[in-house]
Amino acid sequence: DWNMPDYVEEAVGRIRSEVGKDEVILGLSGGVDSSVAAALIHRAIGEQLTCIFVDTGLLRLNEAQQVMDTFARHLGVKVTLVDASERFMQALAGVTDPEQKRKIIGREFVHVFQEQAAKLKNARWLAQGTIYPDVIESAGAKTKKAHTIKSHHNVGGLPETLHLKLLEPLRELFKDEVRELGLALGLAPEIVFRHPFPGPGLGVRILGEVKREYADMLRQADAIFIEELKASGWYEKTSQAFAVFLPVKSVGVMGDGRTYEYVVALRAVETRDFMTARWAELPHSLLAKISNRIINEVRGVNRVVYDISGKPPATIEWE
Ligand code: XMP
Repeated sequence: DWNMPDYVEEAVGRIRSEVGKDEVILGLSGGVDSSVAAALIHRAIGEQLTCIFVDTGLLRLNEAQQVMDTFARHLGVKVTLVDASERFMQALAGVTDPEQKRKIIGREFVHVFQEQAAKLKNARWLAQGTIYPDVIESAGAKTKKAHTIKSHHNVGGLPETLHLKLLEPLRELFKDEVRELGLALGLAPEIVFRHPFPGPGLGVRILGEVKREYADMLRQADAIFIEELKASGWYEKTSQAFAVFLPVKSVGVMGDGRTYEYVVALRAVETRDFMTARWAELPHSLLAKISNRIINEVRGVNRVVYDISGKPPATIEWE
């Protein structure tokens, strides 16, 4: 059993002696791991850390703003916000295959990150929020040539091309320890207990071709869903929940008129390891409220459906 204040002290000391006076860069994703890594490294070396946050156009509603508020404004971390959304949209235009979309998003991300990193001429270290399960998983993948169902991109491949040394202060920690550390470092519970979000972001939650217009509708629907889950106490009871945009039009009525608009699917699952998952038995009254709000508030959507597929055979994400 470990004691958190002592652990923070130790980790800070280790980072200081490892890094010395060098500069460090870190890619913030808005997720728990990179957030905690940033807060810890900032505690250790302050101004020697620069974070890069890439707005891919595939983020959740107000995500870039939230990250800037938390890190730049509240914690005083140096963060470079890069709006690369146009570049991502262009690279994804006309592409419908899920794996190809993942590859394109991963490739563009690496390019944008490299461009930014190249501007920081004194950087010697690349920090990453790698945690213990990631270490095990990638070791396993190397020896077993693991059968991959989805090519998970995170920022793999970056260290080699950037010629930077790797700084991974969370390598020995499990997720719950990372969360505890995050709280001890003063991160808000909304960040520390956030559901996981895939690297390719909304890119794999917009089925088929990605368009800015679709991403905008999905962001709004997803924000309503999450807001209602939080308000009803269901956010904590589910492991992951999100909306999916289906580029299919169906007929509806509104007032005296007929509508012909898009469909949003809601997905909420309970799982421990994300390898298998059960769909969450959300109360019908809650689903009704969310459906009404989405249809009333999100222009272009006139139908909401709830995904009742388990994993396996369905995956958690729709692509
Ligand atoms: P699936 O859809 O495979 O998802 O059941 C299992 C977990 O992995 C996340 N996921 C991803 N995470 N890059 C990521 O970083 C990806 O390409 C990716 N695809 C799925 C998913 O959100 C779920 O938590």
